[in-house]
Amino acid sequence: MTSPPGGGGDEQRDFVETLAAGVAHEIRNPLNSVQINLSILEQELKELVPDGRGNAFTVLGKIASEVKRLDDFVSEFLRFARPPRREPEWLPVAPLVRELASFIGPECAKNGVALELDLRGPERAWLDGFGLKQAILNLVLNALQATPAGGRVVLRTEEVDGGLRASVVDDGEGMSAETQARALTPFFTTRADGTGLGLPLVEQVVRRHGGRIEVASAAGAGTTVSLCFPPPGEGARP
Ligand SMILES: Nc1ncnc2c1ncn2[C@@H]1O[C@H](COP(=O)(O)OP(=O)(O)O)[C@@H](O)[C@H]1O
Ligand SMILES: [Mg+2]
Repeated sequence: MTSPPGGGGDEQRDFVETLAAGVAHEIRNPLNSVQINLSILEQELKELVPDGRGNAFTVLGKIASEVKRLDDFVSEFLRFARPPRREPEWLPVAPLVRELASFIGPECAKNGVALELDLRGPERAWLDGFGLKQAILNLVLNALQATPAGGRVVLRTEEVDGGLRASVVDDGEGMSAETQARALTPFFTTRADGTGLGLPLVEQVVRRHGGRIEVASAAGAGTTVSLCFPPPGEGARP
């Protein structure tokens, strides 16, 4: 194998992305085949043991759920390693956020958490709308995981330096200083079923826009994650 192209930057990133996506695909193909064969096995077992008794069903179930966990992880990893590349465009901000809120609202309600909107502008921003939705969705899921029933999550938008600052604010458990320092590191997680790829994916989305992510949090005092999207360069404005 040749060494990664030197010089860093885009070439190196492309190389790592291709490598990571290649490995993930190589894992996924046999995984899918394992899943298919498991269900064939289950079918045949059902015919052999019609009353469904016996340890074999439990064992099969366990294998299936572990395989699914692995498959879910590979899916999330692929989203991170090879994100869809969409060009930013001038998009109206409030309708985007409202659409997102109506999508995630039921999940918040199920958790007993109030979802509030605080839309202060700007009217439009230079955005990949899909990326923004994916990013905010990840942040709201994190907020829900950290916020007990009775809490609230706010989606806030503001105009900052001619660009958009979009924040997800929660009044949940917050992060310790140590967690906050490592929160953006790929695979860092404090949750038993976490992947540690949520925040890195969000950071990747803002970086693609030339923007940045800010995390403000304190244990017991909630968390605010802000995504700052700069205005486009000259010539892109309508
Ligand atoms: N809103 C939040 N409140 C408290 N902790 C958070 C919040 N968002 C992220 N974290 C912390 O950052 C870690 C990394 O988050 P993330 O990258 O989304 O991975 P995951 O959700 O899979 O753990 C979480 O495990 C959690 O400790
Ligand atoms: Mg997460």
